Amino acid sequence: MLKIGICGYGTVGQSFIEHLRVHSDKIKSNISEEYEISLIADRSIDKKEHDKDIAVTKDAMEMALNPAIDIIIELMGGIDIPYKLITSAIKNKKHVVTANKALIAEHGDEIFQLAEKYNVYFGFEASVAGAIPIIQTLTNNMSNENITSVTGIINGTCNYILDQMSSNSLEFSDALNEAKKLGYAEADPTFDINGMDAAHKISILASLIYKVKSPLKNTHIEGIENITTMDIEFSRELGYSIKHVGITSKVNNLIQCRVHPVLVHKDNILSQVLGVMNALLVTGDKFGTSMLYGNGAGGDATASAVVANLVEAINFSCNRDMRNKSIFKNSGSHSYDVMKNDDIISPFYLRIYALDISGVMAEITNILAKEDISIEAVTQHEPTDSDSPIPIVMITNNVSGSSINKSINKIELLAHVEGKVHAIRVLKTDDK
Ligand code: NDP
Ligand code: HSE
Repeated sequence: MLKIGICGYGTVGQSFIEHLRVHSDKIKSNISEEYEISLIADRSIDKKEHDKDIAVTKDAMEMALNPAIDIIIELMGGIDIPYKLITSAIKNKKHVVTANKALIAEHGDEIFQLAEKYNVYFGFEASVAGAIPIIQTLTNNMSNENITSVTGIINGTCNYILDQMSSNSLEFSDALNEAKKLGYAEADPTFDINGMDAAHKISILASLIYKVKSPLKNTHIEGIENITTMDIEFSRELGYSIKHVGITSKVNNLIQCRVHPVLVHKDNILSQVLGVMNALLVTGDKFGTSMLYGNGAGGDATASAVVANLVEAINFSCNRDMRNKSIFKNSGSHSYDVMKNDDIISPFYLRIYALDISGVMAEITNILAKEDISIEAVTQHEPTDSDSPIPIVMITNNVSGSSINKSINKIELLAHVEGKVHAIRVLKTDDK
């Protein structure tokens, strides 16, 4: 009988136990040895309803040293304590499953090597894109050819907020509160909003695919804090929706790893990914482009991926057979050059506030023309009163980050332009 310990009895931890309860027969039919939940560690367990037959502790580290525990399920979040817990658990020959993307993005290479050294199972399927089996797919089915790019909506909270702002005209803060109530947001939702959570996820994918060390530190990170309902409305008028995406790709020896908002044309399939759903478009040199789509956050969806890893961990502990061994091989061994954000070429959406005075538009277009930037679409809105600046919205042709930034700096200095110019990349058709 294998003994399971759970660290963290919050949104995912509680859904995980419920999943095991509801589907115990199905799970039993997939495993080669019986298991039981022996211990739950949670610092505020006394405030939470739990099965009184399961022993509890407030001290997660107790789990790592407990000789009776065979498999640890880490669902606490954070980095330092889970790092200590997981590394000492592995050294104590325990198998580990985690949903913790922050930890993997920071310490994945080291933990993978440790797991291989101690010959224990280490599963982290739930760390990227919730219920979508992207880790399994990339490291098994898609691991026999070159993956040229992954473009995905990988933060459920951002997608939910942008969708609620767009479809239900919800204010940003109301949509965020809903996402928190539904269990989508991180314990500190700043990580969702400022792009850090998506950055953790895209850098995990980049390190698995390209075997590069610490892509997080070279990841370009922008969140959705500056997206307004006005941007959403203007984009819609031009045939686009706004999404937050993660992109990693490799061309020759140059790696891109970035997360930021983009305008997605209504004909692009990613524009149809709504609510908390995630989607990843993966391109390989042989299979072409495949899309994986599913629930990207929430207790049940995430716990489903954790249960899948638990089943693998149980079977591994019996016959030491792990299909996704390639995860560990050569992890972090490849060096790479990073494509600078300034060099990345795409169309841009620009929102500029200018006084409604003749000649302003010509001044702006002249500045853009000097950088060889042409305008593909433009809309101009009526002022609310004659003294107010009007928003001018335009979509440019393909242009580098450095050219657009140079032009923006000059536009902001124009006498009749007010405030900052807001720029968002437009997803290129070959990013789809
Ligand atoms: P919660 O905050 O809901 O749950 C975490 C639980 O762990 C809480 O009960 C918390 O106690 C407890 N805890 C935190 N730190 C410690 C500690 N040092 N010692 C003991 N107990 C501790 O988070 P989630 O369930 O949402 O997320 C858990 C993990 O899963 C995170 O790594 C998250 O990034 C990841 N994840 C979450 C998804 C989601 O949709 N929610 C999706 C994919 C991954 P307290 O209540 O006192 O804070
Ligand atoms: N907070 C994360 C999100 C949870 O919203 O995507 C899933 O990783």
